[in-house]
Amino acid sequence: MAVPSPPRCQGCDAVPVTNADEGSLTSAHDRWVDRDAAVVWHGFTQMSTYAQNRPIIVDYAEGRELIDVDGTRYLDAISSLWVTTLGHRVPELDAAAREQLDRVAHTTMLGNGNRITIELAEALAPRVPVSEPHFLFASDGAAAVEQAIKIAFQFWTNQGINDRTRYLTLGGAYHGDTIGAISIGAGGFGTDVFNPLRFDVLRAPGYDDLGWADTAVAMISAHAHELAAVVIEPLVQGAVGMWLTDPESVERVGDACREHNVLLIADEVATGFGRTGTLFAAEQCRVRPDIMCIGKGLTGGYLAMAATVASRRVYEAFLGPDLSEMTLYHGHSFSGNALAAAVALRHLQLFEELDVLANVRERATQLHERLEALANGNSAIKEIRQRGLMVGVELAPPEDDLRWGRRVCAASVDRGVLLRPLGDVVVLMPILTITADEIDRIVDVLDAAINEVCAQ
Ligand SMILES: Cc1ncc(COP(=O)(O)O)c(C=O)c1O
Repeated sequence: MAVPSPPRCQGCDAVPVTNADEGSLTSAHDRWVDRDAAVVWHGFTQMSTYAQNRPIIVDYAEGRELIDVDGTRYLDAISSLWVTTLGHRVPELDAAAREQLDRVAHTTMLGNGNRITIELAEALAPRVPVSEPHFLFASDGAAAVEQAIKIAFQFWTNQGINDRTRYLTLGGAYHGDTIGAISIGAGGFGTDVFNPLRFDVLRAPGYDDLGWADTAVAMISAHAHELAAVVIEPLVQGAVGMWLTDPESVERVGDACREHNVLLIADEVATGFGRTGTLFAAEQCRVRPDIMCIGKGLTGGYLAMAATVASRRVYEAFLGPDLSEMTLYHGHSFSGNALAAAVALRHLQLFEELDVLANVRERATQLHERLEALANGNSAIKEIRQRGLMVGVELAPPEDDLRWGRRVCAASVDRGVLLRPLGDVVVLMPILTITADEIDRIVDVLDAAINEVCAQ
């Protein structure tokens, strides 16, 4: 197959690594990749080079390991793109899904309810850092963000305030890939082609700038009269490469929103459900967002479910006569899916029963110590950024276009640890029940991969 040279795009390294077996169809893996590439279009993936970039084709999973169609095992060190919390094929979650199947898989939430979805919302309500919350369910994180954008806008128009139409968001922000989400997102990630479709926002610096909160607070003060909301990812800007900030900076932005009567939207799609060491990152920041977006880990990574969580104040701004324009005319076909709700409810219970957060804290400390030792005196590593079990290992290639991030991850996959980079940042996002031995396995493999790729 002739493969044209693809254009490079920011955030997605689309150049093939190597492929000794290119063209041969000897293993089950090769046959499945061929079938895959013939009919499936993979997100954030250059399909002309997909086959050469060593995709793994998963057949089944056990605990924290994925087993491919050739029977090769891989430790899932990216939690299947940051969604898996307790592991794959967790008996209790499997059972919850099966039991719900014996009742009903899905019914609509538009104008009607479902018992299991109500039970889930009741269980979530005391755990989210949002006052007297209501949950508008969706399927993916981007949809939850899109809902938050619309809710914040209509919150003001429902009160007859029509000039609160803008959003203050941050450099480096990623909130998903729908048009609203990429508008409040910072660009890059290969999405610049959509610039003509983006709406305009006010943008403060991201967490890579130590003065980001000073600037954000000043902008909130100057633009409050036109701001519908401020949107942040509390503590960690994940997709840009794990940029970190401190709780006090988030608190200052939260305080400025309160002082100037601007809504605060916390996007916890990535940070939620234990990744940073608490159930939600906002808990570490003494902020209570008006609106919060959750997704990814909500069902433990089992099923597509997200939610936009609105405080009572926000929710009540939508109450009015039947069929009136006060209504939020928004809602997706699979909102509040019963199967997903059953798994999410059991997941929330298990999270406490297994004291998952204690494991996150212990393993985060171990990982921190091991990575510090790895980075010490290692010129291939520029910086380690970690909050809980969200980690970015930024490599320091001596020149552009060496594709170290891509190649180090490929070398890790060869050694049985599944990693995926963000540019030259190797992301480690282990499943939250990871053991001490598995942390050692990840760091040992990363060490070997860096030595193989970066030793000059
Ligand atoms: C902070 C944040 N918000 C939103 C999203 C979008 O979530 P989804 O991919 O489920 O649409 C992501 C995805 O990585 C994210 O990191």
